[in-house]
Amino acid sequence: MGEAGEGRTLPERSGTFAGDPFGGRQPTSHERLSGLPWDASYHDGPAPWDTGRPQPAIVRLASAGGFAGAVLDAGCGTGENALYVASLGLPVLGVDVAETALAIARVKAGDRGIGVEFAAADALHLERLGRRFETVLDCGLFHTFDGDERPGYVASLASVTGHDGTLYVLCFSDIGPGTGPHPVSQEELRAAFSPGSGWSVTAIEPDRVETRYHDNGAPAWLATMKRA
Ligand SMILES: C[S@@+](CC[C@H](N)C(=O)[O-])C[C@H]1O[C@@H](n2cnc3c(N)ncnc32)[C@H](O)[C@@H]1O
Repeated sequence: MGEAGEGRTLPERSGTFAGDPFGGRQPTSHERLSGLPWDASYHDGPAPWDTGRPQPAIVRLASAGGFAGAVLDAGCGTGENALYVASLGLPVLGVDVAETALAIARVKAGDRGIGVEFAAADALHLERLGRRFETVLDCGLFHTFDGDERPGYVASLASVTGHDGTLYVLCFSDIGPGTGPHPVSQEELRAAFSPGSGWSVTAIEPDRVETRYHDNGAPAWLATMKRA
């Protein structure tokens, strides 16, 4: 099926289609369900997931040497994780469909003097970036996609990840009290990144995702995949 906006004169990633809150792309399942573009989450103060600091799980990963080479943060939001990884000296691109979040991220980068790139792009079509990354991070994006979107998203991630590259997915898990919205099971992760998908799952560890409304974070999976 063709994308909304095909054939128009402005590039899809410009986000400037007059009157189109989706910037010419097809709304995601989450946007269709909520009736709002992702950008709206950033209009009235910090979004529930926007804690103003990097996720501890990502900081731990980085301390353990988990990030190498060019790094992509898919669905970067206001950029705390991307900014943290970039502050370690790695080249980082954060992409999101929410222009408001990207604008906030760029201001933070300027204020903190951190060299990092933020760009509007649809994570379901990362091949359009025409770039390759050694490490890809998904913090809170995978779990927003429904079963119909996941195969396309997984292929999109594979299209920008170099051979032997690493993908980290930090998502809400379905185990334990206080589960977040869109809880995901280990089986769903293994099914999405099954061998035919171009990925092999090397680890799925229980972890936590901090939010603005959980005292000690919500139960999460930190999944590590290698590009086959
Ligand atoms: C739960 S938030 C997590 C944001 C950020 N990673 C963080 O940890 O604060 C999910 C983010 O994914 C973005 N997003 C949703 N669908 C997207 C898509 N198709 N392409 C790019 N970004 C998307 C949303 O705008 C939102 O910023």
